[in-house]
Amino acid sequence: MPFYVTTPIYYVNAAPHLGHAYTTIAADVLARHMRQRGEDVFFLTGTDEHGEPVALAAEREGTTPQELADRNAARFQALMPPLEVTNDFFIRTSDPRHERKVQEILSRVRDNGYVYEGKYSGWYCPRCADFKTEAEIAEGNTCPIHHIPLLWEEEENYFFALSRFQEPLERLYSERPDFVLPAHHFNEARSFIAQGLQDVSLTRKTLRWGVRVPWDAGHVFYVWFDALLNYVTALSFAREGEDLLGRFWPADFHLIGKDILKFHAVFWPALLMAAELELPRHLFVHGFLLSPAPEGAGEDSAAQAAVGADGDPAAVEGGAAAEAGAPVEAGAPGAALEKMSKSRGNVIDPFDIVDTFGADALRYYLFREVTFGQDGPVSQAGFAARYETELANEYGNLASRVIAMVVRYRDGRLPGAELDNELAGEFLGLHERVAELMDGARLSAALEEIWQRVRRLNRYVEERAPWQLARDPEQAAELESVLASLVEGLRVVTVLLAPFLPASTERLLASLGRPELALAAAPFGAATEAEPGPLAELAPLFPKV
Ligand code: ME8
Ligand code: MG
Repeated sequence: MPFYVTTPIYYVNAAPHLGHAYTTIAADVLARHMRQRGEDVFFLTGTDEHGEPVALAAEREGTTPQELADRNAARFQALMPPLEVTNDFFIRTSDPRHERKVQEILSRVRDNGYVYEGKYSGWYCPRCADFKTEAEIAEGNTCPIHHIPLLWEEEENYFFALSRFQEPLERLYSERPDFVLPAHHFNEARSFIAQGLQDVSLTRKTLRWGVRVPWDAGHVFYVWFDALLNYVTALSFAREGEDLLGRFWPADFHLIGKDILKFHAVFWPALLMAAELELPRHLFVHGFLLSPAPEGAGEDSAAQAAVGADGDPAAVEGGAAAEAGAPVEAGAPGAALEKMSKSRGNVIDPFDIVDTFGADALRYYLFREVTFGQDGPVSQAGFAARYETELANEYGNLASRVIAMVVRYRDGRLPGAELDNELAGEFLGLHERVAELMDGARLSAALEEIWQRVRRLNRYVEERAPWQLARDPEQAAELESVLASLVEGLRVVTVLLAPFLPASTERLLASLGRPELALAAAPFGAATEAEPGPLAELAPLFPKV
């Protein structure tokens, strides 16, 4: 079965930070999991290079938008290998092949009668690249997200007839309750639609940096339409001489942050209908990674403190960390938590974390610390704590101990040992449960299911005390059964953890003599038919930092 997963394409107005790494790693975890299930996976990420946010940043830096795009797109691309991200393609919207496809699709939308010429007059936020509706305007004609004055725009524009999709969108939301996940964001999108949709600008006349409108050279397309279409256009040129649209469209999952819900949950399905393309199966909307406000931020007005100058709303949902059972990390004592964003100076550089703890630890931490779908705080101290207590002590130590005992007591071999039925029972259905959770992109819940078994295996070691069994020759068969059961349990959790911890699980499976990654091999006992090679000693998976 084909499986197509995407991330947002990121603005090239600044370098990537942990927030961008977050969505990208989530998509990678899903992609790797689906590959384990034998699905035909396509995983897309990339950069959004047009529009006002990039044009204004280039102006500020005294460079051209294309130069800024080239420089920062390279930084986003360079982030992938160190994060162990296995994207199948990286799209850049300044690619002429993308531009041609955008022109083709939007011409079709026009031919289908959904584009008309009109005069736009209203309030616009250049940081959001968003035309505000009545309900979205804050006091004094300011942006409710950025709290900057909105610009009064009067422009001859082409419009997209979004209002004509009022009923089709209402029908979509009543027929497909899993179109937007998790449910609270589904409800948010549905109530936005229920308020009544207005037509939106499809083109801009005052901006040069964008895709030229083929039927009127004086206009470029409004950046959001150009950007959303990347999910479709990339399939037409990602593989030389091949059109992958038939194979991978519709997408299974668009992963996005909650800041860009309206565009994906309202504009995007309407645009696809207008272009006679199928709708994606699911949007998964995650929350914000939060970080303490920088020093002195307390003096800012609440409005400023809640906002990043790069255009990111910083609304926070409380309680996520508590739900995930995570310790709440404080920066400066009492510092308010806010959305991590470059302009606030409260970002964590993903390269720093990878250098200290490794990519696996970063990948693990993000979905353990913050329930995927909720907001939650992250911090350097939090990384260090989870690394030591969970990865090193619970998982890494389990692996070293089990392997060391098999080597010590049985020269690394356990031919014909019986598996413990009771322990097997506690693993029953685990891989199906994990697959089911992953089908809903519930990464943190899947990780929790697996981690409960890691903890169970540690208790099993303590309960059965193999070192005591080893002293009594009459308990030889019992010892072998306990060790074989531990090896098998360790193998199962390791196969299931592979999407989160790709590098260390590969090492561990190799030293267990069982490199098979397929989910079909994940049931407890499924690997006992053939004789594995001898276990090999393993250097610590998560050494002291
Ligand atoms: O909005 N916590 O690009 P963008 C969690 N180009 N996720 C975060 C985050 C944080 N603190 N900060 C950023 C755009 N993100 C458009 C998208 S798509 C057709 C066009 C992630 O550079 C999250 O995925 O502002 C968010 O939605 C995205 O980066 C916004 O990236
Ligand atoms: Mg943004």
